[in-house]
Amino acid sequence: RGKRAFIAGIADNNGYGWAIAKSLAAAGAEILVGTWVPAFNIFETNLRRGIFDESRILPDGSLMNICKVYPLDAVYDTPQDVPQDEVAESVKEDFGSIDILVHSLANGPEVTKPLLETSRNGYLAAVSSSSYSFVSLLKHFAPLMNPCGASVSLTYIASERCIPRYGGGMSSAKAALESDTKVLAFEAGRRHGIRVNTISAGSLRSRAAKAIGAAVDEMIDYTLMNAPLQKELSAEEVGNAAAFLASPLASAITGTVLFKFVEMTTTTTTP
Ligand code: NAI
Repeated sequence: RGKRAFIAGIADNNGYGWAIAKSLAAAGAEILVGTWVPAFNIFETNLRRGIFDESRILPDGSLMNICKVYPLDAVYDTPQDVPQDEVAESVKEDFGSIDILVHSLANGPEVTKPLLETSRNGYLAAVSSSSYSFVSLLKHFAPLMNPCGASVSLTYIASERCIPRYGGGMSSAKAALESDTKVLAFEAGRRHGIRVNTISAGSLRSRAAKAIGAAVDEMIDYTLMNAPLQKELSAEEVGNAAAFLASPLASAITGTVLFKFVEMTTTTTTP
């Protein structure tokens, strides 16, 4: 049988999650999706009504099939709150097991504020929904992952270099996510035989990125000027990298941050 993937963090067809789902589907995987509770109904309705049909087309001409969409709230972990363990439980009941776990979600309520002006609550909210959410997701899904399972998350270079406008503690959240990738690779590798990797992606005009407004365009321009490959990164290229990391071709790769098309450190060009 083909591999089964659960992708947390798809609410439309613009983000990295959708592109990853398509690359995995093109490689023959069965796709399950976790969608944030406030966006769940509209996403499911749009999907059923065929709004996304054009962007569901795979390279062989067939349409990506999303087997099921689950409501998911990545901030809550206790049984009172429609949490991730409930979603894992439902997936287990419906499908038994999965092979691939993708975390493509982030939220920083104060992302437009410089770190120096970020409140404690804003900072903690960013880390909670963008970093701890991965710890929790892996914890709840690992027991239903088949041996040789793989997980992939998405990060951003602001974790290690100062990128103005990526505020609200989001840079801190990505630093945590990358550090956790190493620790979880060790722990989940030893305990479950699961690989844990993250992709540091270039900027994309997704719905989440619209929160920082024109800054995304600046970031894209800056990358274009300073990256080794002078073209705009497509979501599909990140999708393909995720499909590779999740596949047996990457069976000995774990605990890594894979860079996709970010600027090099030594250049001096500014927008
Ligand atoms: P997106 O808007 O497509 O995806 C973010 C998703 O997170 C949305 O579907 C949203 O509903 C979901 N979400 C937010 N809070 C949630 C919660 N509490 N529980 C469950 N779901 C929640 O945007 P994008 O940009 O594709 O983001 C996917 C990942 O890629 C994120 O980790 C982001 O930080 C990362 N990334 C994005 C870059 C960009 O320029 N867009 C660059 C590098 C990394």
